[in-house]
Amino acid sequence: MKRKRIAVFISGRGSNFKAILDEVKRGVINGEIVTVISDNVDAEGLQFAVESGIEYKVFLKQPDDSRQSYFERIISYLQECNTDLICLAGFMKILSKNIVDRYRNRILNIHPALLPSFPGENAQAQAVEHGVKFSGCTVHFIDEGVDSGPIVIQEVVPVLDDDTEHTLASRILEKEHRAYPLAVKLFCEDRLLVKGRKVTRI
Ligand code: GAR
Repeated sequence: MKRKRIAVFISGRGSNFKAILDEVKRGVINGEIVTVISDNVDAEGLQFAVESGIEYKVFLKQPDDSRQSYFERIISYLQECNTDLICLAGFMKILSKNIVDRYRNRILNIHPALLPSFPGENAQAQAVEHGVKFSGCTVHFIDEGVDSGPIVIQEVVPVLDDDTEHTLASRILEKEHRAYPLAVKLFCEDRLLVKGRKVTRI
C-alpha cells in the first residue's frame, strides 16, 4: 500500500504534530509528513519540522485576502505536495468551503472536548464552567460546520472537583497524543469508512 502524504497544519505549540511525527518515525503510521503549514510565523511547533528536516511554509492572511482566496493559495501548495491527508493540529483558522470540498473526508482535526459538546474555542474552560463530570477529546473529519464533522475516535477523562481549565487541558492532552496518531494510522491503512455521519473501522 502506498504511503500517504500528510500535511500538518499548526498555529502554536505543535504537541499533536509531534505526537504524529513520533509515530511516523517509529514506522507505526504508513505515511510521511511532507509539509507543515502554519498561519503563525512564531508557532513554536515549527521547531519540530526544522529538527526533523521537514519542509514548512507559513501562510499569512493578506489584507485583501478573503477566507476563500487565502485557502486557494494553500490548496495550490497542497496540490504541489501531492497531499493525501491534512491533519489540523491546533490550527486556529476555520477552513473555507473550497478546501473542505477539495479534501472531503481527507481532513482530520483534534478537538479537546467530547463533541458535539463544547465546540469552538476554550473547550476545556467551557467544560469546567458547565460542571460536566467527564470530558475528553475527539478526532473527527472536517465538514463545513465548526467542529461538526464525522467522529473517528473519542477518548474520555474525568473532570475533578478542583480542576481548572489548565489541569483539565493537560489531562485531555495526554489522551489527544494517543488518539490522534491512532486515527492517522487507521486513515493511512485505508481502514476508515465514512458513510454520512458514521465512521467505522474496517
Ligand atoms: C490541542 O489541545 C487541540 O485539541 C486544540 O488546541 C490544542 C493544540 O495543542 N485544538 C482546538 O481547540 C481546535 N478547536 P498543540 O499545538 O500542542 O497540538
